[in-house]
Amino acid sequence: MRLAIIGTGYVGLPTGVGFAELGNDVVCVDKIADKIETLNRGELTLFEDGLEDLFRKNVERGKIKFTLDMQSAVCNADVVMLAVGTPPHPITKEADLQYIYAAAKELAQYLDGYTVVATKSTVPVGTGDEIEKIIREINCDADFDVVSIPEFLREGFAIHDFFNPDRIVIGTNSERAREIMLQLYAPFVGKTSFLLVKRRSSETIKYASNAFLAMKIHYINEMADFCEKSGADILEVAEGMGMDSRIGKKFLNPGPGYGGSCFPKDTNAMAQMGRKYGAPLNLIETTIAKNGERKAKMGLRVIEAIKSNPEGKIAVLGLAFKGGTDDCRESPAIDIVREMVKHSHNICVYDPKAMVNAKAILGDSVKYANSIEDACRTADVMVILTEWEDFRHIDLLKIKSIMAKPEIVDLRNMLNVDDVVKAGFEYQGVGK
Ligand SMILES: NC(=O)c1ccc[n+]([C@@H]2O[C@H](COP(=O)([O-])OP(=O)(O)OC[C@H]3O[C@@H](n4cnc5c(N)ncnc54)[C@H](O)[C@@H]3O)[C@@H](O)[C@H]2O)c1
Repeated sequence: MRLAIIGTGYVGLPTGVGFAELGNDVVCVDKIADKIETLNRGELTLFEDGLEDLFRKNVERGKIKFTLDMQSAVCNADVVMLAVGTPPHPITKEADLQYIYAAAKELAQYLDGYTVVATKSTVPVGTGDEIEKIIREINCDADFDVVSIPEFLREGFAIHDFFNPDRIVIGTNSERAREIMLQLYAPFVGKTSFLLVKRRSSETIKYASNAFLAMKIHYINEMADFCEKSGADILEVAEGMGMDSRIGKKFLNPGPGYGGSCFPKDTNAMAQMGRKYGAPLNLIETTIAKNGERKAKMGLRVIEAIKSNPEGKIAVLGLAFKGGTDDCRESPAIDIVREMVKHSHNICVYDPKAMVNAKAILGDSVKYANSIEDACRTADVMVILTEWEDFRHIDLLKIKSIMAKPEIVDLRNMLNVDDVVKAGFEYQGVGK
């Protein structure tokens, strides 16, 4: 099939590469010239595990191309996928739909022959109707349907998730569009569940799912606070809860609060939708407020740990919003560092992949290290903020020998408490 993907970010690029690998002819469009130039030089613009090899292979065999030219991509496409950003509006926190509407306006004039316009971007309920209206106003002769095809991939696992989705949701009332989407997703038949629903249901499924996962994280974080006060151990509690198949063991890891490019914006957008439709979503509203408070509290927890030497160096390990990605958007690690910067001028940070993105946000408010050792040298405390596998295998004795004071605040519960204590560290995890 011929596919145009609008937006080559964390969703558009892995999705484009994935569909190319499945044998489709993919053209990816972006409006940022730098990105397209880089991709056309055969280099990636973002880090995703497993992406590079598939990208190179499909560029070499001509199955995927990159362009700034919307027309050439759209006029030949059977399916045009919208994968542009829907960031939160800075004031209202609603999903800002300017990019999706701008893309719809632009592509409308180039539709040629029957085309499915499939929205992969996460958009509020009813956006499909608006996109349809926009295209119709600009090109009244266009033969098209707008379908909602929400994306559930996890950053850091985008390629794995593309080929192994939990489910594929297709939202449309059009029989013709549904058939084309089923053809596109035919390689997944028998490997995953398909759900064919109304467009508005499909749009809602994405937000309802993300908001539920955010609430699950918030719930386990509150339980962790309870365990700290009551003498229970959250890891044992979470394990016991997760054995119940009705609860499931995923998203029961306590930590510094949820973040990333999706949960904060999607919970806010869902809460806004609840208000708009007069159906208040109180659990989501509380989750949003308490998650924000938690990140500030975690920053102060670190400051408390160095109170005997407030000038002491704080070594921060991890800046990305989670392991496996270089994405720092709404990263709890960044929010916590910002909180600490209010109280300390001696913070040195390290992340295996996210240094460039973090530097663009944190600027010269902190120092930047080249390695775990570099960050920890002469530090009074080491703080783990992102769950990178490398951090689990830290050489504790070596690190202890170069730190000024052997103290660890592990906000991801990555280290084995017995090992850390045996190595002679003061240790604080979460919920123990
Ligand atoms: N990142 C995730 O893990 C994830 C997961 C599921 C769903 N989503 C949703 O997918 C959508 C995209 O997210 P992302 O993280 O890939 O965003 P992103 O910011 O990484 O990428 C968006 C890309 O779209 C491009 N773009 C914007 N307007 C354009 C236009 N008119 N023409 C061409 N290109 C244009 C931008 O330049 C950018 O490269 C969002 O709605 C997001 O909520 C994201």
